[in-house]
Amino acid sequence: MNKETKNSPDLKSGKGDKDYSKYFDFSDAKLIREEDGKATYRIKGRTIQINAAPDYKEEKQRGKEEIKVHYDFELPEEMKQFGAGKYAYIMTYGCQMNEHDSETIKGLLEQMGYASTDDRNMADIILLNTCAVRENAEDKVFGELGHLSHLKREKPSLILGVCGCMSQEESVVGRIMKKHPFVDIIFGTHNIHRLPHLVKEAVFSKEMVIEVWSKEGDIIENLPKKREGIKAWVNIMYGCDKFCTYCIVPYTRGKERSRRPDDVIAEVRELARQGYKEIMLLGQNVNAYGKDFEDIEYRFGDLMDDIRKIDLPRVRFTTSHPRDFDDHLIEVLSKKGNLMEHIHLPVQSGSNEILKRMSRKYTREHYLELVKKIKTAIPDVVLTTDIIVGFPGETDEQFEETISLVKEVGYDSAYTFIYSPREGTPAAGMEDNVPEQVKRKRLYRLNDVLNEFSKKNNEGLKGLTLEVLVEGESKNNASVLAGRSRTNKLVHFEGPRELIGQFVHVHITETPTFYIKGEWVREQEAAV
Ligand code: SAH
Ligand code: SF4
Ligand code: F3S
Repeated sequence: MNKETKNSPDLKSGKGDKDYSKYFDFSDAKLIREEDGKATYRIKGRTIQINAAPDYKEEKQRGKEEIKVHYDFELPEEMKQFGAGKYAYIMTYGCQMNEHDSETIKGLLEQMGYASTDDRNMADIILLNTCAVRENAEDKVFGELGHLSHLKREKPSLILGVCGCMSQEESVVGRIMKKHPFVDIIFGTHNIHRLPHLVKEAVFSKEMVIEVWSKEGDIIENLPKKREGIKAWVNIMYGCDKFCTYCIVPYTRGKERSRRPDDVIAEVRELARQGYKEIMLLGQNVNAYGKDFEDIEYRFGDLMDDIRKIDLPRVRFTTSHPRDFDDHLIEVLSKKGNLMEHIHLPVQSGSNEILKRMSRKYTREHYLELVKKIKTAIPDVVLTTDIIVGFPGETDEQFEETISLVKEVGYDSAYTFIYSPREGTPAAGMEDNVPEQVKRKRLYRLNDVLNEFSKKNNEGLKGLTLEVLVEGESKNNASVLAGRSRTNKLVHFEGPRELIGQFVHVHITETPTFYIKGEWVREQEAAV
């Protein structure tokens, strides 16, 4: 695999084409070494080796070059024992995509001989797999780095790494160099497979090693994955080409690339064989699946239709973009079986003017029409959504349009956010004229309306018997088990621990807002 050559920085000198000095505005930084496309600087007593650093302009570009698929990843022999007798601790922030990337990271570390630990004091390597979607997600990571500095002082051999979406931001790399120079490795979302090399480089050189690829690389199919639990995540595609004006994800995750259908199906089959009860297909916009195939006409509806035939109890997917949700997909989903009747369909706003400025590329009318079609085809479908309040320039009237849309759709639940400007995105350049207090008020009001519907929809479940996949004990009470219905409702009921991982039937008796409660129906225990 010649990924390294393809994506290495084209660096001739510390300046010029790839002048890394923009990442550190320290006048006393000294370039001390340049070789193999790597530049090493001495900055305030810390030596920093930069193999590649993120560049917004490149991240934004959508090149035509073909994405190759590799099946030949192999950990170099000399790294297989590198972590023997040592422990790794990974903290994951953000979405399921990141959770799943952490499984790859854990898989790689395991191949290197590291054992995983939940105790950070025991760890020899700690990695923060970060999220950049809102400012508060980033604040958490910087706060954590502050705590970890103490640990690093007590145990200088500890390797500390930052990866994930924040690493793909120019400003974050600069801030870490400046304020958290004790960090040992920074790598991004496109070069996770380089982790073993970077760990080795950082350990031997004792330098901070930065390698963040701005452009997505090829798809590597055979990276190890350390999955846990009864549910399994499966990537069907990477990246996003939608460029909603508020969103950082297209920059941090690169262009849309679909995995080949055969590879996805083979992985799902294998997971079914291993006994997983539920799989979650992942993509930032799963409805765009297959758009990038040039040799075959095969889209998300086709993929779901093929996965439907696999002997596996439950299949879910996230996230759907309303624009690409086509009739064929609705038809396939209406066949149900192992396809669950829950669709997460982010709307973001109910106002056409705001949707336009968000560049969502659909209107309120188009969205409502889609909801109607889905509800007609799947009458018991549960719809959930994502909504942003306080987008730059959002008026009271425009916010009210969001409220009226929420009432019209009657969502079962939603993730609601206050708009957070992301450096480098178009919306960050729009005048953010909605006062903080107004944004907060809108969020509370929106949540109140959503809760009303949640409660009402849940009340409709009273007296029904639902199929529940038991996931574990409830957080607050060990004698209560928690599981999920087909529609992804959180269900609590009393029962023995042995039921964890099994399908059971639960007769719903009570319906508080955020979960539903019921009684285990023994005689009907499902033998799925
Ligand atoms: N690809 C998914 C969304 C991924 S980000 C989709 O399009 O549905 C998850 C959610 O975070 C988004 O749906 C949006 O509601 C929210 N979000 C993204 N950027 C944001 C920002 N700058 N401020 C506030 N919320 C944001
Ligand atoms: Fe972000 Fe829009 Fe892409 Fe979702 S579809 S990841 S909100 S740019
Ligand atoms: Fe966050 Fe990156 Fe996911 S920004 S939401 S972790 S794709």
